[in-house]
Amino acid sequence: MSYISDQTLSKPDPCGGNELSYVSTPIFYPNAEPHIGHANTIVIADIIARLGRMFGVRVWMSTGMDEHGQKVERAALSMGRQPQEHVDIIAREFASVCSRLCVVPDVFLRTTSPNHIQTAIKFWNQIKGHLYEGEYEGWYSPKDEAFVTEQGPDTIWTKESCMFFRLSDFQDRLLNLYETGRVKIYPESALHEMQNIIKAGLRDLCVTRKSKWGITPPDMPDHTMYVWIDALSNYLSASPTGSYYPGATHIIGKDILRFHAIYWPALLMAAGYEPGFTILSHGWWMQGGAKMSKSEGNVVSPGEFIDRYSADAVRYYFARAKRLESDASLDWSEIERISTQELLGGFGNLGQRLLCLANKHGHEEVKCELETVRDLPAKCEAAYHQNDPYLYAEALFNSVSALNKYLSANEPWKAPDPRPIIGCALDGWRSVVMHAEALIPNACAIWSEQLKDTSKKPTHAISFAHSVAHRSPAE
Ligand code: MSP
Repeated sequence: MSYISDQTLSKPDPCGGNELSYVSTPIFYPNAEPHIGHANTIVIADIIARLGRMFGVRVWMSTGMDEHGQKVERAALSMGRQPQEHVDIIAREFASVCSRLCVVPDVFLRTTSPNHIQTAIKFWNQIKGHLYEGEYEGWYSPKDEAFVTEQGPDTIWTKESCMFFRLSDFQDRLLNLYETGRVKIYPESALHEMQNIIKAGLRDLCVTRKSKWGITPPDMPDHTMYVWIDALSNYLSASPTGSYYPGATHIIGKDILRFHAIYWPALLMAAGYEPGFTILSHGWWMQGGAKMSKSEGNVVSPGEFIDRYSADAVRYYFARAKRLESDASLDWSEIERISTQELLGGFGNLGQRLLCLANKHGHEEVKCELETVRDLPAKCEAAYHQNDPYLYAEALFNSVSALNKYLSANEPWKAPDPRPIIGCALDGWRSVVMHAEALIPNACAIWSEQLKDTSKKPTHAISFAHSVAHRSPAE
């Protein structure tokens, strides 16, 4: 167990023992192997979950697989596999990416699991009063599992009897949820985009399909549930209670914002719940000018990335290389630079230098009064409350830079008594190690072990007294 966990787990729980903060990733389509875009979402959620735990918040994190639907069925059959056999194979690969990236979710939810199917059916019964029979005629995109207004390269003309959900009934209530802050959407541009879609008028949503690979709704043996209803109800089955859990933070890519910001709260209201959650909509990793995706044929596998660098380097890169909301091209030279200059040359070098100096000269216990280091706990806590992994990584790197500069400027190797200088830098380094655990857990475990002999808690440490336990949407 690492230094930081030893410190935090023994502290009193500021949530009073009964409140969990729920952080989710989307559940992934197992139409193909995981790529960097998926790994990014998983890591960002894990960093936020770990940051919360670092501040004493009890966090529940869910991820998993969205295993039904036409897209997955097609992919399975094209590989000569039965759908269930196929999803079992790909689910193992996603789970392995999680563990290789040091992500240990509380739940890895699969929509083919009996528990989820039961929950989805129960949810269906809850929204039943808002459904009516009709006929859908229009384009359907299996690639996006979405009903679309215009023909695209992958769309199919669909004409079938189905059940509709009265989404149009919820327009005003959806806008009100945003206005009152019960549903929070970040960044602000994403919120405006959703407000504009709603104001332009919502059409009722077709919620059943004639396809075979899915959950059969009650009394509709020839139909399956529209895969997004099935998928969104994972936030019930994967929650800490196995049912609706208010106050969740849903981390999603911008391509699936509409489903989370419009369909999900409307469905929850239809089921009799009062929605309250936060959506963090992140940008994309691009390759060759396009969103990295299986259908673009431009994917990079997380395994390749981790093999070439390390889990810590990949995690660090995801947080540090772009702001959450922006798009960025995967840039191997930037990964190389970040990994060599910042992680090895910055963090690694500082830790190594300090260990050598302390071993050679010893050290005096001196408080590190460098402003950047002093501000580190507050910056990390702000990054947690703002769900901002970039801010977090930046605060850590700035502290490392400040400490490296401090050593270079004070040259302990030349000083008549180097021990106070070493002690001051060591105090700052302990603080960095304590705070970096949510970002680079493997390295921190090693550094914590190394620091064990120098004992002592850093002066600028996480303060439990002032950390806010639970972030509710009604704050
Ligand atoms: N199954 C749905 C989600 C249902 S959640 C109730 C789905 N799956 S997905 O596998 O296509 O995408 C899962 C997540 O990966 C989404 O948040 C998506 O934005 C993200 N990414 C997929 N490609 C991506 C990039 N190239 N870059 C960053 N994230 C992207 O949608």
